[in-house]
Amino acid sequence: MKPASRLSLLKPSPIRAITDGTPPGAIPLGLGEPTWDLPEPARLALLRAPGPCGYVPHAGLTDLRKAVAAFHGATVDEVLITTGSQGALFALFQAWVEPGTKVLIPDPGFVAYPALARMAGAVPVPYALSPDRFRLDADALLQVLAATPDASAVILNLPSNPTGGGGDLEALRRVAEACVARGLLLISDEVYRDLHFGVRPPGLREVTDRGVVVSSVSKGWGAPGLRVGWAIGDPAWLTPARVVHGYAVTGTATPAQWAALALIEHSDAILAEARAGIRERWEALAAALREHLGQTVSPPDGTFYHFMPLPPSAQADPLAFALKLRDEAKVVVIPGLAFGEGGRGHVRLSFAATPEQLSEGVKRMAPYWRG
Ligand SMILES: Cc1ncc(COP(=O)(O)O)c(C=O)c1O
Repeated sequence: MKPASRLSLLKPSPIRAITDGTPPGAIPLGLGEPTWDLPEPARLALLRAPGPCGYVPHAGLTDLRKAVAAFHGATVDEVLITTGSQGALFALFQAWVEPGTKVLIPDPGFVAYPALARMAGAVPVPYALSPDRFRLDADALLQVLAATPDASAVILNLPSNPTGGGGDLEALRRVAEACVARGLLLISDEVYRDLHFGVRPPGLREVTDRGVVVSSVSKGWGAPGLRVGWAIGDPAWLTPARVVHGYAVTGTATPAQWAALALIEHSDAILAEARAGIRERWEALAAALREHLGQTVSPPDGTFYHFMPLPPSAQADPLAFALKLRDEAKVVVIPGLAFGEGGRGHVRLSFAATPEQLSEGVKRMAPYWRG
């Protein structure tokens, strides 16, 4: 058997290399998902399922589209419901990224971006984040854009997986203006935007409605398994993506859309609780880093990721170091290199774990930083 040649474009995930083979008793600080229970409104909505469970329109359940539109200050026709934000990204890439063109992606950045670009027949081109806190650096991005005449799309991720860094309005405005001027698809992945520590990080729609924002109920609303996400933008961008998404999956599971609607309708309470939860976890992590490593850290702009500098001795082979942490210290963290060359000097530590796991995890890791 020989799979289609396009499969060779997809590299094995370095995250899998760490998480597969996790020994029993290891503390999972590699997780990229909420660990708390599905909020009650979604559980009730799933129980109360009305009569038939039919298909819904390809663009999504109308009431859910209305709720998402209201949440984002958009109109209903600017909303496409998708199977996770990943479904939105896939559909947008397939619909708009011409084979042979280039897609600008953050480095370090979410591992799916280069894979999605390659699946669309394009070449991912990395742009650096700011050297201090790994935030959006408009100068760095615009420099790469200027040197890439055959770019078809630019991806932002605010705040970022894996760094937690956001961007300021001025940086967003400059990037948006450049993309609009060139007619490029600008996608802002804002799945973590509502998981912040007091100040909501800026989002693309604050500076333009000419790009496309993608998000989902997977992070802030604590429901990654529902697989409900969306794209918000000009229907001219969304309609071709809706066609792709429709042929790929017909539509996102109808009960999942009922549950997502219940979540969005209770956004104020659910998001406030999620933020309180990550704050408590962040404080446990910060206290453990102070106690065991003497480190003083400030919270990310959003997300549940701490991008932690590696000890100098680990920089030559970060993957080997992470495997050693996993197998000897029994703590799973993800080497920053998994997210691109720009992450080489760091590991991503997820504080979606419980406060107890965070304290114990840092205690176990500390000797490897000190020694
Ligand atoms: C930055 C980012 N974007 C998109 C996704 C995809 O999430 P979902 O498809 O569950 O919305 C993830 C998942 O980890 C992510 O970290």
